[in-house]
Amino acid sequence: MLIPGFATTEGTARFRERFAARLPGHLRLANGLWIASIGLGTYLGDPTPAHDQLYAEAVQRAVELGTNHFDTAINYRHQRSERAIGRALGAMIAAGGLRRDELVLASKGGFLTFDAEEPEDPSSYFHEKLIRTGLVRAEDVAAGCHVMSPKYLANQIDQSRQNLGVETLDIYYLHNPETQLSAVSRPEFYRRLRAAFAALEKAVAEGKIRVYGTATWNAYRHDPDSREAISLEEVLRAAEEVGGKEHHFRAVQLPFNLAMPVALAAKSQVWKGRAMSFLEVARAQGLMVFASASLMQGHLAQGLPAEIRSWFPGLQTDAQCAIQFVRSTPGITCALVGMSRREHVEENLATASVAPLTLEQFRSMLAK
Ligand SMILES: NC(=O)c1ccc[n+]([C@@H]2O[C@H](COP(=O)([O-])OP(=O)(O)OC[C@H]3O[C@@H](n4cnc5c(N)ncnc54)[C@H](OP(=O)(O)O)[C@@H]3O)[C@@H](O)[C@H]2O)c1
Repeated sequence: MLIPGFATTEGTARFRERFAARLPGHLRLANGLWIASIGLGTYLGDPTPAHDQLYAEAVQRAVELGTNHFDTAINYRHQRSERAIGRALGAMIAAGGLRRDELVLASKGGFLTFDAEEPEDPSSYFHEKLIRTGLVRAEDVAAGCHVMSPKYLANQIDQSRQNLGVETLDIYYLHNPETQLSAVSRPEFYRRLRAAFAALEKAVAEGKIRVYGTATWNAYRHDPDSREAISLEEVLRAAEEVGGKEHHFRAVQLPFNLAMPVALAAKSQVWKGRAMSFLEVARAQGLMVFASASLMQGHLAQGLPAEIRSWFPGLQTDAQCAIQFVRSTPGITCALVGMSRREHVEENLATASVAPLTLEQFRSMLAK
């Protein structure tokens, strides 16, 4: 049986209350929800039972230390990451220490995925499961790995709900939609995007997801004239075309960290004819922004220059300084950090015992 409910203002405020005194400014209000400024990501790691167990323990420890946001995708570790999160949170909810309305759960769809293990012959596996069953048309597959047709997304949303064990996903992202641009023209891309958004609006109406958005890697960081660039203005126009002014496109995810600051530092987007940074546009439109790869996939967790460390008083380790940068950046809702080891969860969540930099501190840091 799937756990009913979804994140609410009241539930997430209750979660926040438990940590407000110890973790100043850690849970922040975005789109009506109190969301932890450090979320647990589940991309990396071997697709093995041993790593499932690590993630399940990491998720439990993260809740105990003040995280209510968990980010995953159906293809992460061949659906194992979704299942590990679902198992851990389901057990905590069943034990009575946690309630569904306190948690903000995000997943993504778009990439083809295996089921727990890589089959011997991936292409015949996909042919049998997807093409022969009529779930996917061959012409919808881009780069041999990506589909965002309405039928496929509806199927993937149901599968993610099963894997996570919940009736409703709080945030559902279209995963790296820019992958389609390697296979189709820009007009066809936006036609596919509108069809995908229509499917996501339908899923909202059915109570299967609460809001949706895009999780990207290159799309919002590349120069507007590059092949994989996507305009946030056009994406929001597509959402409005299918969902009206009250559409449910409310969240974006993109890489952002000390070594990849484009979302803040470069005017890579155009809004009403004006060049602006991605974060300026997202903020003006009231979008929740989730930073992926906050540690640059682990590389920022060691070897930061002493000068950079000095910008983040009160923190002990390089990982903590890198996370503090991300969660202090104006416009960032949450720094997502991949962490499957308990000791990493403990080190990273300790960052939250120091308040994020104020806007003034952040500006003076940039001026250094
Ligand atoms: N296009 C997309 O949609 C997209 C792309 C990338 C990421 N994401 C999301 O964003 C999340 C975060 O990004 P990411 O996982 O790629 O990269 P990341 O958060 O920058 O780094 C994760 C890596 O850092 C290690 N780590 C964590 N804390 C550490 C510490 N204190 N000291 C040393 N190493 C530490 C983790 O190891 P352990 O696992 O061993 O703890 C893991 O190998 C992902 O998990 C995923 O949910 C989305």
